[in-house]
Amino acid sequence: MEFSLDVIVKKHWYETRIIIDAMVLPCLCIVMVLVLTYLISTTIKPKNYPPGPKWYPLFGCNNLLNARTTKSTSQWKVISDLAKEYSTNVLGLKMGNERVVVVYGENNIRQVSFDKEFDSRPDSFFLRLRCFGKRIGITFVDGKLWREHRHFAFKALKNEGYGKQFMHEEIKKALRNITNYIDNSDGVPREYIKEQRIQRIIDLMSARSKAFTMAGGWLNQWPWLRFIAPDWTGYSIIQKMNKELSDIIEETINKHKQELVKGNDFIYTFLDEVYKQKQTFTEDQLKGICLDFLIASTQTTGNSFGFMMLALIRNPAMQEKVYQEIITTFGEEDPAFSDIGRLVYTNAFFAETQRYHTVALFSGARRTVSDVIVDGYTIPINTTVLVSLGDLHSDPKHWDEPNIFNPERFIDENGKLKMSPYSHPFGLGRRRCPGEPLSRPFLLTALVTIVKRYRIESSNGELPSEEPIVGILAEPRPFIARCIKRK
Ligand code: HEM
Repeated sequence: MEFSLDVIVKKHWYETRIIIDAMVLPCLCIVMVLVLTYLISTTIKPKNYPPGPKWYPLFGCNNLLNARTTKSTSQWKVISDLAKEYSTNVLGLKMGNERVVVVYGENNIRQVSFDKEFDSRPDSFFLRLRCFGKRIGITFVDGKLWREHRHFAFKALKNEGYGKQFMHEEIKKALRNITNYIDNSDGVPREYIKEQRIQRIIDLMSARSKAFTMAGGWLNQWPWLRFIAPDWTGYSIIQKMNKELSDIIEETINKHKQELVKGNDFIYTFLDEVYKQKQTFTEDQLKGICLDFLIASTQTTGNSFGFMMLALIRNPAMQEKVYQEIITTFGEEDPAFSDIGRLVYTNAFFAETQRYHTVALFSGARRTVSDVIVDGYTIPINTTVLVSLGDLHSDPKHWDEPNIFNPERFIDENGKLKMSPYSHPFGLGRRRCPGEPLSRPFLLTALVTIVKRYRIESSNGELPSEEPIVGILAEPRPFIARCIKRK
């Protein structure tokens, strides 16, 4: 018998086509059902999840948040208003595919700040990107690594004079440079920073803060967007900033390795541990800690300083009261930092600035390491938790007329300074800011030095706006201050 090969192949192909055609439709249906089931499942809230807006497939609550933020310019305010709309102190959101819970009220804030279940930080694309793509440093690591390095850094810095007289002398030196610069500027408005590289980094940090929210924005939720829209997602800004910071840190570490830097400092102390090959003490980790210190200190302290100047300009009578207190207490003498505590009104003015112009409206993001109950609601494991310090600082339950700038609220009936248990500009608990012993003396000494020497006014007679620009942090809108020498 003769067979034509061509006929056989065609026949088999024809039969196979029939089978494939018969399978395609069911397969397509199965894929569609699976995709639909997945999409629907992303809109279902976990049992007893805190109240909040409806979740949509892929976007969660992003559409609502973005639409409202575009109108109000502050995502923190939008979220705060949502909590009021839902009459809740624990707001349940979903941003893209990330569950985010925001807590309000003293008790809930204390629970999140102090309970071990909330000690960890989220491990997201955005946060890894912020740390050169790794889990390094102090701010965004957890567990043993975080405890060990937070403790080590604090101890090493203290040994080198952190929080002590030596540091206060260094602060005074830095402030003298600033006042000399103002004195020599002949009343012409100038930017203080002379070094272009530092200026570039500060500009990039500010652009990054404005481009992102505390939960990381679109880039965090859909990292692949960076390939399509690197500028719009803020990816380009972070990459540029990382490159500048990485260069500056590596250069400084290399100078230390070649012993070109005089004296002892944190980098030398850390490098000693690297040379001893102590576990977890690597150059990468050192880079991470330097990065943390640079990022966590620059904008927070800079913005606080800006708000302090703004408050002086907007409240000239209070500025005069601060000046009179400094002069009657110390005369022409420059007080030591330990004596600044005697200036009751000045300290109250500073405390009110930190309350009224809260820089960290949300404290650092936390991550739950198990299911936890807060205020009767269940927050599932691996949920990002934000603490609203800004709302605590303006809660009418704790503050009379919170929307009025009034330093007197920090003074008791005996004329003594009265610190409030509801003001926490540096956060609370084990993750509380370790930079406070540097920032607070710097800002207070700056306040005393500047008010004693100059009267601060607006440069064009108009009061600058007190409405902040809000991103990751709150920042004052740019304004030019005139420093008029008092004598
Ligand atoms: C006015 C200035 C500052 C403000 C308002 C501020 C505020 C904060 C806040 C609210 C947190 C989060 C706390 C939490 O998650 O519960 C924090 C964390 C942190 N801050 Fe600051 N900070 C300031 C200055 C500084 C400075 C000068 C440094 C460094 C020398 C610094 C280093 C850090 C670090 C490393 C963390 C992370 C701590 C951890 O995760 O264990 N901060 N800061």
